Amino acid sequence: MPLPKAELHLHIEGTLEPELAFELAARNGVELPYADTDELRKAYQFEDLQSFLNLYYELMAVLRTERDFEDLANAYLARAAAQGVRHAEIFFDPQAHLARGVGMGTVVDGLWRALGSSEANHGVSTQLILCFLRDESAESALETLDAAKPYLDRIVGVGLDSAEVGHPPVKFREVYEAAAALGLRRVAHAGEEGPPEYITQALDVLGVERIDHGLRCMEDPELVSRLVRDRVPLTLCPLSNVRLRTVDVLADHPLPAMLDAGLLCTVNSDDPAYFGGYAGDNFDAVRSALGLGEERLRELARNSFVASFLEHDEERRQR
Ligand code: HPA
Ligand code: ZN
Repeated sequence: MPLPKAELHLHIEGTLEPELAFELAARNGVELPYADTDELRKAYQFEDLQSFLNLYYELMAVLRTERDFEDLANAYLARAAAQGVRHAEIFFDPQAHLARGVGMGTVVDGLWRALGSSEANHGVSTQLILCFLRDESAESALETLDAAKPYLDRIVGVGLDSAEVGHPPVKFREVYEAAAALGLRRVAHAGEEGPPEYITQALDVLGVERIDHGLRCMEDPELVSRLVRDRVPLTLCPLSNVRLRTVDVLADHPLPAMLDAGLLCTVNSDDPAYFGGYAGDNFDAVRSALGLGEERLRELARNSFVASFLEHDEERRQR
């Protein structure tokens, strides 16, 4: 039996397996520039975050209808459930779909067809987090939040993803203020490829409650002390870090040092179809490559629930 865990860093578009990509391409009459799934899999060699993002955005072309988003989410939920995920806080990237003429309603209603019945069908509770693309403008983020207003009963919070370097959190001050005023929870990717100052900015300027990745905090001892003191959760993604060359090999991953420092770390899959594994695979990988014992693995699983927004649902039910 895999350890029960919550997954807090998961891009639904990053769960698009090559088989489903081809199935949806055929269904929607979209032509993919790959002969078959084997050839597509061969393209999964990444130099850095940007080289991955290029393929990630390219393959999204096959996602067009509500049913596509429903099928995508159901496929993820089935795989996650089999690996012990009991709760998933799922990122989605509306700007990448709006830019292709796929409306916010198609995305959210489609995802909700799967998420709304996920507890019954998969034994996984879910929440949705709308991410702004940080390499798009601040105005575009504000427009996206505006377009999401009719759907806020199904969205727990906002996040910030895509190409990090050169797009500091401060660029999104206004949209995060607006999100806070709407009662949305706030997270942001920071310190994946970007410097430790981006983590500090995400906390101080955007008011985030969790940092996605946050790996590079280890370069700044004062920042580590602050994250420990304030119990700021970090949603780490070990297999992603290896595939995007943030760390050279898994055995060099700073997770053990981060746990020893007292940081509230969680282990997640990020974009599992691209990075070689789902949540349980990431747990297995850190167990074998980093020699983490059962106690550490249980701590990571416990942290995932502590760091989740589950109580948000409770509060909402009680209102
Ligand atoms: N980092 C930044 N943006 C992303 C990622 C990631 O790991 N995955 C999907 N969008
Ligand atoms: Zn991510």
